[in-house]
Amino acid sequence: MRLDKFFSSQNLVSRKQIKSLLKQKAIAVNGSTDCKPEQKIDPQKDCITLFGKIVQYQEYIYIMLNKPQGVVSATNDRTHRTVLDLVPKELYRPGLFPAGRLDKDTTGLVLLTDDGELAHRILSPKNHVEKAYLARIDKEITQMDMMQFEQGMTLKDGFVCMPAQMRVVELCDNPLVEIILKEGKYHQIKRMVAALGGKVLSLKRIRMGGLTLDPQLEEGACKKILHKDVEKFL
Ligand code: URA
Repeated sequence: MRLDKFFSSQNLVSRKQIKSLLKQKAIAVNGSTDCKPEQKIDPQKDCITLFGKIVQYQEYIYIMLNKPQGVVSATNDRTHRTVLDLVPKELYRPGLFPAGRLDKDTTGLVLLTDDGELAHRILSPKNHVEKAYLARIDKEITQMDMMQFEQGMTLKDGFVCMPAQMRVVELCDNPLVEIILKEGKYHQIKRMVAALGGKVLSLKRIRMGGLTLDPQLEEGACKKILHKDVEKFL
């Protein structure tokens, strides 16, 4: 990889800035400041420093987003803000995309990454990665409703769902329930609740696999996640 590409891929320094940093001798490759932008480096083996500090190479980036309502899980959209519009400049990289979709009015955990292979593993229906949601429902939830979820319910259009879990978190007129799915079909929770004769009033994804939405992360905010945490997805 070229030295200038290395810096731009890490979103640290633009290709323009690199020339002046090289002139200032702010960049060193294996201790030598005698470097050129087009110089080839091996990001896994060479020691690259910027102002004396080692630049840790990260091949891919993983970002946890707490999606607010009104934002679409797409990379571009003519009329709505997208999840990518919420990524701060310092975390942005070309090729970022949401690994999995939430409806426009659903809030909560979205993983943004440029790692296509990991996204594929998370999204592959074969892997049955669990997703947990908190849903506010407009009707009382009965034992019978929970049993239907557990047994794998049939939706109004005839689609047979995989067994899922539902438990009541807050008992009131519009109960709050936790729902755990192992699949992710279009509007799945809304359709499952409709099959019980109810309506979802609000929906938030709180977990994907073993990775839980950081409760400190405000709606609309992003944070970079470490590779060791990314493994928790699966
Ligand atoms: N189920 C839905 O109905 N909507 C979502 O956004 C996610 C799961």
